[in-house]
Amino acid sequence: MDINSREHAKQQDEQDPLRHFRRQFIIPSQADLARKTLKHDTNHHNQNEESTYLCGNSLGLQPAHTRTYLERYLDTWASKGVYGHFKPIDDSNLAPWMNVDDDVVEDMAKIVGAKSSEVAIMQTLTMNLHLMMLAFFKPTKQRWKIILEGKAFPSDHYAVESQLRHHGLDVDESMILIEPPSKDNPILSTEHILSIIDEHASETALLLLPGVQFYTGQLFDMNSITAYAQSKGITVGWDLAHAVGNVPLQLHDWNVDFAVWCTYKYMNCGPGSIGGCFVHERHGRVSPRAVGADGEDPAEYRPRMAGWWGSSKSSRFAMTNRFEPIPGAAGFQISNPSVADITSVRASLDVFKQTSMEELRQKSLKLTQYLEDLLAGLTLEQENGSGACFSTITPADPAQRGAQLSVLLKPGLLDSVMDSLEEDGVVVDERRPDVIRIAPAPLYNSFMDVFNFVRAFRQACEKATAISKPQGHSAMVNTGKENKGWSEVK
Ligand SMILES: Cc1ncc(COP(=O)(O)O)c(C=O)c1O
Repeated sequence: MDINSREHAKQQDEQDPLRHFRRQFIIPSQADLARKTLKHDTNHHNQNEESTYLCGNSLGLQPAHTRTYLERYLDTWASKGVYGHFKPIDDSNLAPWMNVDDDVVEDMAKIVGAKSSEVAIMQTLTMNLHLMMLAFFKPTKQRWKIILEGKAFPSDHYAVESQLRHHGLDVDESMILIEPPSKDNPILSTEHILSIIDEHASETALLLLPGVQFYTGQLFDMNSITAYAQSKGITVGWDLAHAVGNVPLQLHDWNVDFAVWCTYKYMNCGPGSIGGCFVHERHGRVSPRAVGADGEDPAEYRPRMAGWWGSSKSSRFAMTNRFEPIPGAAGFQISNPSVADITSVRASLDVFKQTSMEELRQKSLKLTQYLEDLLAGLTLEQENGSGACFSTITPADPAQRGAQLSVLLKPGLLDSVMDSLEEDGVVVDERRPDVIRIAPAPLYNSFMDVFNFVRAFRQACEKATAISKPQGHSAMVNTGKENKGWSEVK
C-alpha cells in the first residue's frame, strides 16, 4: 500500500497494539484550541474534530483521569485538613501526604531504569540541577572545569555558569562548550564528544549533557559517554528533560552519577510540574553512626544542601536539629513536595505502568520512521518542483533519536508555516529562527496524526513559498509532479 495514502495510516493504527492508550488522554479539539475562552463542559471527549497534537516534547497532554485524581486530592484536603498527611482513606487510591513522594518513586524508577532508592521526586529541573551540582561539583586546583554542549538549553547553561561563579571560578576558562565540528551540522557525534573530553580530561570535574538534545532531537549514547568520562575521573550528570518517558533508560546499569528531569513533557504531569532526580546508590550511602568515647559520631554521607524532607522520617517531627539523611536519593530532598503535583505524577504513572518503555519505544520507532518517510517523500516532491523548503536535522539513525524530528525551514518561511499549521489545527513547536520540532508521542499519537501533520505541512510550505515569491507562483503547484498519494489534499 502507498505509504502516502490515508488508508496506510489507518491500517497502521489498526495494527498498533498500543492504540487504546490514546483514549486515556484528552486530545484538544480544533474548536478548543481556536476558542478564546475556557470550555465549561468538562466532558472533553466531544464530537468536535480532534487537533493534531505533536508537541509532547514541550507539554504532554492531560491523562483523562488526572482531573479525578486532583479532585480526590482536593476532597481530601477539604474534608480531612491536616489529617490528610497521616490517615489513609479507604476510598482513595492516593497515599497519605506524608508518603506521597515514596508512593511514586517505584514506578518512576522503572521509567528511568533505576532502583527505587535512587530516585527522588522533588523540586523542578533547574533547581535539581543546582542541588546536584552543589553536591557533586567540588572543584579543586587540579580539576575545576565543567564540560557541557554549546547549545545546551539556556537554563542549564545559566545553572553551570552561576555554579562556576559561586565557586569563584573564571567562567571563560572553566566552562568548556562542545560545539559541532561543522556549522552546517548541529549533530555531536560520540567521537567528537569523547575528543573534547580527552582535550580537557585532567582538568575537568564534571560533564553535563542532555539525554536527548532539545533542539536537534539527537539521542546521545549515554552509556558509552558516561563510561568514558568516568574512566578519566570525571563525574557525569545528565539532563533528561527530553529523554524521560521518551526512550528507555538504564541509569543504574550505566553507572550514571546523577540525573535530573522534568515531568511535563513526555511524562504528561502538567506545566511546571514537580521534577525528578537520580542519584546512583554509591553516592547515596549513609554510614551508621558510630558510638565512640565522646558519644555518637555524626553519620557520614555525601555533603549536600539539606532540608527536613531529606531527613529520616523518624527525625522529621522530633525537632532535634540533627540531620539524618534518608539513604539514597530521598536524602537529597529539601522541602515537603507539592501534593497537587505529585497527584498529577501518580495519575500519569498509572497510565505508564500499563505498558513499558520498551513497548513504547517499539511503537515510537515506527511512528517516527513513518514521519521521516513521509517527509522524505515531500522533500523529493519539492525538489522536483521549486526546491525543498526544509531539511531534517535530527539524525537519520533511529538509534540516535527519540520521538522528535526537527525540521529546518528555509529562511523566512517559519511564521507563515506556523500560522498555516495553527489554522489547520496542527500543534507543533518552533525554535527560532527556522526550526520546527515535531514529536509523535507513542502513548497518545497515532499514524493518522502523522499523516495529517505532513498533509498540513505540505500545504503550509506551498503557501509560505508562494508568499515569499511575490509573483504568486508556487512551483510545486505548477509542476504537476506531485506524488499521486497526496492528490486528495489539494
Ligand atoms: C533540556 C531542558 N533543560 C532545562 C529546562 C528547564 O526546566 P525547568 O523550567 O523545569 O527548570 C528545560 C525546559 O523545557 C529543558 O527542556
